[in-house]
Amino acid sequence: MQLTYFGHSCFQVTIGGKKILFDPFITYNELAKDISVDSIKTDYIFLSHGHADHIADCISIAKRTGCKVVASWEIHEWLNKNGIANTHPMNTGGKWQFDFGTVKCVVAQHSSGLPDGSYGGNPMGFLFMTGEGNFYYSGDTALTLDMQLVPTWATPDFCVLPLGDNFTMDVADAVRAAAFAGCNKVIGVHYNTFGFIKIDTEAAKKTFEKAGKELLLPAIGQSITV
Ligand code: NI
Ligand code: MN
Repeated sequence: MQLTYFGHSCFQVTIGGKKILFDPFITYNELAKDISVDSIKTDYIFLSHGHADHIADCISIAKRTGCKVVASWEIHEWLNKNGIANTHPMNTGGKWQFDFGTVKCVVAQHSSGLPDGSYGGNPMGFLFMTGEGNFYYSGDTALTLDMQLVPTWATPDFCVLPLGDNFTMDVADAVRAAAFAGCNKVIGVHYNTFGFIKIDTEAAKKTFEKAGKELLLPAIGQSITV
């Protein structure tokens, strides 16, 4: 599976010819200034929660591409009110079969207010189960024992986990999250974007290595095969 990193928690995978973008936050990310938001093509946007650093570019990309946006019921209603009609509401515990595979919404321990103060429902993670492989994107979250349920549904080939600390798990907790999810390959996100979440990337890779796991930190704009 091809994965492209666009900075912070924004990445895109291609499955069965469908492009799926997660948590678009590019315009306001100084580190992603070389990424042209208006050139991103996508068939889907998945939103883990309503915070600005996960949805800032959602409306503009959805308007331009006509893609389907998948999010909590409350964010789906908010998008509808803001002119985005092609949405699919979900909530934690539920799954849905899309044209590229099945996605299960899983628990994330975080918060989810929208930028204008609207209630965004609960934050969520996603477990993708597809003919091209499975992966788990946890969204912003604390380490939680709920992650132990992930491999009972499907074994992820890789996980996408936040590890910047302060707002989410730190590196050590992300290692434990990967273990709970039954997965040895992790793509780290939600680090170094702002002052609160600066990490030592070399030390982070070593911490994963010591635990017998691999931490991938693709550069912004880089595509990797996972
Ligand atoms: Ni957040
Ligand atoms: Mn965040």
